[in-house]
Amino acid sequence: MEMAVAMGATAAWGQLTGARSEIPWHERRDIYPEGVASGDPDSNSLLLWTRCPVNDGTNAGKLVVELAEDESFHQVVATTEAQISEASDWTCRVLVGGLKPARIYWYRFTDANGNGSRVGRAITAPNDDDTRPVRFAFVSCQNATQGAQNAYRRMIFEDERAAEQDRLGFVLHLGDFIYEIVWYPEDRPQGMYDRRLRDIVRYQHGEKIHDFHIPTTVGDYRAIYRNYLHDPDLQDARARWPFVCMWDNHEYSWLGWQGLQRFGTTNRPAQTRKVAANQAFFEYQPARLFKPSGSSLDQFDPPRVTDAPITHFDEHGLGQEQNNLAAIHSLRGYRALRWGRNVELIITDQRSYRSEEPTYRSEAQVFSTDTFPGFMPEEVLEILDAGSAFNSGHPPVSIVYGGGEVANFRRDQPPTTILGAEQKAWFLERLGRSKATWKIWGDTVATLDMRADPQNLPPGLTRPWPGKGYAGFDASFGAGDHSTAYVERGEIYDFVRDNGVTGFATVAGDRHSFWAGLAAKGLPPKKFEPIGIAFITGSISAPGMVEALEHRLPKEHPLRAVFVGQGPADVRPQPTFNLLLRHGIKSCLEYARSGDINKARALSNPDLSPHVSFVDMGGHGYAVVRVTSEDFETEFVLHPSPA
Ligand SMILES: [Fe+2]
Repeated sequence: MEMAVAMGATAAWGQLTGARSEIPWHERRDIYPEGVASGDPDSNSLLLWTRCPVNDGTNAGKLVVELAEDESFHQVVATTEAQISEASDWTCRVLVGGLKPARIYWYRFTDANGNGSRVGRAITAPNDDDTRPVRFAFVSCQNATQGAQNAYRRMIFEDERAAEQDRLGFVLHLGDFIYEIVWYPEDRPQGMYDRRLRDIVRYQHGEKIHDFHIPTTVGDYRAIYRNYLHDPDLQDARARWPFVCMWDNHEYSWLGWQGLQRFGTTNRPAQTRKVAANQAFFEYQPARLFKPSGSSLDQFDPPRVTDAPITHFDEHGLGQEQNNLAAIHSLRGYRALRWGRNVELIITDQRSYRSEEPTYRSEAQVFSTDTFPGFMPEEVLEILDAGSAFNSGHPPVSIVYGGGEVANFRRDQPPTTILGAEQKAWFLERLGRSKATWKIWGDTVATLDMRADPQNLPPGLTRPWPGKGYAGFDASFGAGDHSTAYVERGEIYDFVRDNGVTGFATVAGDRHSFWAGLAAKGLPPKKFEPIGIAFITGSISAPGMVEALEHRLPKEHPLRAVFVGQGPADVRPQPTFNLLLRHGIKSCLEYARSGDINKARALSNPDLSPHVSFVDMGGHGYAVVRVTSEDFETEFVLHPSPA
């Protein structure tokens, strides 16, 4: 029960023997418009959720919650009351403990008039010594204003038909559950790429920036969660499986970091919005989060903050302004979950504590040019990432680029951290002492290098490549994940190697593309020394780079062939970006010349991406992991564009 108090949830305790329900429940889904959900199971407890907006005062702010061992509620093992109030936007979280491990339960909510929620299905985790195989899905990036969430429909379809032992235990959601930036249909009558814009949310207090809208108050953030949850595919998925959710950037702000927002090249204080985003996440995601503020069981109790300038940063890049610290500490999301003998899931927060992303800075824009879309020299990325730590503490005064030199604006600043010092210490400690077969890092952002070899462009096709060798990718291609946080990633991977951590696997999202490969801190010509495996899932529905490039890259661009090229017989552009990242420039140019994929692959550059065994920059869908004491298997389930 202490756990329940710490998490701000109402608590109940399961009985050993069940009894038939005596509640006069009749289903009224209209009274619970966002459905039901369960989250963060462990081997003896579950967190249950619903929302029931009180309109006429008849249910007195209370719901009865029942949890049963059977779908018809003849074996009810826990019954309790849940408080609902306007202060938490009529949502509630109920922790039910004393349950059996590795078991399916059903739950429902009923108001004083017998108006009942739909029935949800939840599953407890197995005991720590349970050696049975584990299956779970991991997902990210659902944009309900730009696409359909039918990936969940497929997931449900597959699961209902699977044998009992092959069904999913839970769904890990690695963020961008919502997209806070919203184009209203009238803002872009032409739609987004090939997609139509759905009119699902209007912010009451929204701010318009360029041609999109962002939330500014907790009411705005709540509104977007509510409207996303009206999607039947998403709502059915939340009712079928426990979700384990971690926010990424869009739960707060597109290019946000700590308590700041960023639009263009300007950081602006937004501590009040960070608190509002945390509050809405707390209210809408049943998750085992720690909130130090307030003592209420059912309410977030937001700390009072103001949007004050953040000017002083410590040696880890953490803004020391007190409203910033209060805002980012108002909800702690990083946590670990055990699922039997084989799985420990360690989930981290990549947005609240991170230092400023150097490639977003205005001084870094000089390294990007339209001639080489997205490309940024790898040696530049390394210098910008490491800051004062580059070259064992001897960073260059200027960076050689093309024929000239650019001032190294990072030479007096600490290396980039995405985790922040405190969370990183927790993460490494947790990783080091885990006894599970597989230590799975749930990282909302990708770790696998995204690399191209523009040094292999034939002379004359375009201007000479201004870098020394390989290219990584800049902010316009989504830079700022763990693939270019070289120092921090290296520190983590060295820890894994030096401490003999076995079974280290990373599952990630954010990149809107599917990747499978090996975790290594260096690539050729540096030493290539894999220490684990890594997977990235594509988006549930948000547009990916292939869609964007088909529209954004001019038809006559000399490098179109390496992104969305066409062979002589192709009637439409092909995602040759995949070839570029896996095999290199020469393969792409061969494909554009002959249209022969085998000839193209024969020109593969073996030093480009020895860490990548699969990449798909064009697909959408989800990933399913199956682990045993011997194997770790990831299946990518792709479906046509959810436009
Ligand atoms: Fe995303």
